[in-house]
Parts: sequence; structure tokens; C-alpha cells
Amino acid sequence: MITGKARLAGVMGWPISHSLSPRLHGFWLKQYKIDGAYLPLAVKPEDTEAVLRTLPKMGFKGANLTLPHKEIAVDVMDQLSPRAEVIGAVNTVVVKDDGSLFGDNTDGFGFWENLIDPAFGWTQPKDKARPVVVLGAGGAARAVLVAFADAGYQSIKLLNRTQERAETLAADFANMKDIQIDCPAWDHRGAELTDASVLVNTTSLGMTGQGPLELDLNALPLDALVTDIVYAPLETALLRAAKARGNLTIDGIGMLLHQARPGFKAWFGEEPKVTAELRAYVLSARGA
Ligand code: ATR
Repeated sequence: MITGKARLAGVMGWPISHSLSPRLHGFWLKQYKIDGAYLPLAVKPEDTEAVLRTLPKMGFKGANLTLPHKEIAVDVMDQLSPRAEVIGAVNTVVVKDDGSLFGDNTDGFGFWENLIDPAFGWTQPKDKARPVVVLGAGGAARAVLVAFADAGYQSIKLLNRTQERAETLAADFANMKDIQIDCPAWDHRGAELTDASVLVNTTSLGMTGQGPLELDLNALPLDALVTDIVYAPLETALLRAAKARGNLTIDGIGMLLHQARPGFKAWFGEEPKVTAELRAYVLSARGA
């Protein structure tokens, strides 16, 4: 039920109709009986700044940002969180009481909270010097690298089809975070799995409609965790193959669910929980 006092937020994207965020926040608004609304906002890239600047004028508490606004918004914010600065993108905007815009990035937080969700039973490696293998060097990879750096991991192997992009990312991080990032060639990805404690796919390979991720898992230790940020399909071929040989696997939908928590708390005042019911509700919308 919405009254004249309802708190307002939404998700800006172009396109936006596929977004699962309205459903996700809508579930929490109902669960916590909050007088508020969370709307899909179809905003073209050329309008990012104008719409962001309009949020406080319309009484919005803030918004989530998705493609193509995340990077554009960085220069529009009045203030950035340290993690938004390191990642170089904003996915959560909070309108402060004075009408200024605070930009945060909760993707790395969401990724990490998903991995350590007790429901999955992952025990972190005792030896954090064992490498974490990250495939891909786009925006999602940046968030994943921040998560591992902040959790005290010491070594990343970052492999990307375009090796130069991985090297640029590693050079960026060299100035910001205390973690060693090496960039072996994409073609050696199978062999580079030796001794890995975690394997993360941040590429779009394996996603419905995209090409397959070709990867020989033979060298991967059986105690390594395998996770994929692709969640359509929920069980990617990578996760299926890893599970079949005995590795623990964690799928990607939880990253989406957990990244939403800080925004919901900031806009609607309640600390929301990620539960099995929420997961099932959000997943049931896929393909609808
Ligand atoms: P995001 O910001 O969501 O991470 P992105 O910036 O488009 O998305 O990055 C997509 C990632 O998938 C990149 O690492 C990309 O590799 P390149 O940097 O070489 O483009 C990777 N990727 C996409 N298609 C690929 C393919 N066919 N083979 C290998 N990697 C691929």
C-alpha cells in the first residue's frame, strides 16, 4: 500500500524491461510492510546526468544503476564511496538529506556475501597465497578483484581473451590494493588452474545466447571453489562440469540478491535478508 509519504527508489537502465531488481525490491517492500515503491526507469544513456540530477527534485531516495549508466554516473556524483572509486562504476545512488548524490558500488560486496553465505558451506582456504583464478576483465571482474583483495587474498591470476585489458586492470589495482595480479595468456587457462583455491568466471561465456566457455578443469584442485557470475542459466556448463568432478560450486544469482541490500537499507530503512524464498521468487520470473 502506497500513501503520500511513500519512499521512492528505482533502477535506471537502457534497456530495463529484463531487470529483476523491481521484483527483488518489491518482495522486500511487501515482506517488511514498507510504505514505498521501487520502479523500473527506462533512461537513455544521453539522459543519465539529467535524470540523476532530477532524483532529489522528485523526492526520490535514490536508485540502482545498470547498463549503460554505471560508468557514466561516476562523474555526476557529488561524493563516491572508496569502493565505487576503485571499481570505477556506480550501481547504487543515495540522495542525501541536502539533495546531494552519493555513489556507491555494491557489486563486490554482493559477490562476496554470496560466496560466504552459510547455505553454500564454503570454507575459505587456510593459505590465502594460493591463487584465485579470475576469467574476464570487464566491469564485473573489477568488483570481484576488490572483493578478494579486501578479504585478504594475496594472489590473483587474471585471464582475459584480450590480455592487454587484463594488464591494464592489474596496473590500475597495483596503485590501489595490496594484491599481486598476474595476467597469463587466455590460451593457457586450463594449465593456470593448478593450485587455485577459487575459480571465478566473470566473462559472458556460458550465458544463454553466448558462446560456451571452453575450459579443461583437469588441473583444478578438488578443494577449489568454482563460481560463475552468469545466472542465466543458473547452472552453467562450467558449474555443472565442476560439480561433476567433485568441486564445490556457487551460482551467480546470489550476487544480484546481495548487492541490493545496502541500497534497500539506505532508501527504505530496513536491513533486508536474502532467503531461499526470495531466491525462488526472483528466479521464478526468469523467462517470464
Ligand atoms: P562486464 O562489465 O559485465 O564484465 P564486459 O565489459 O562486456 O562485461 O566484459 C565481458 C567479458 O567477457 C570480457 O572479459 C570479455 O573479454 P574481452 O575483454 O576480450 O572482450 C569476455 N568475453 C566476451 N566474449 C568472449 C569470447 N567469445 N571469448 C572470450 N572472452 C569473451
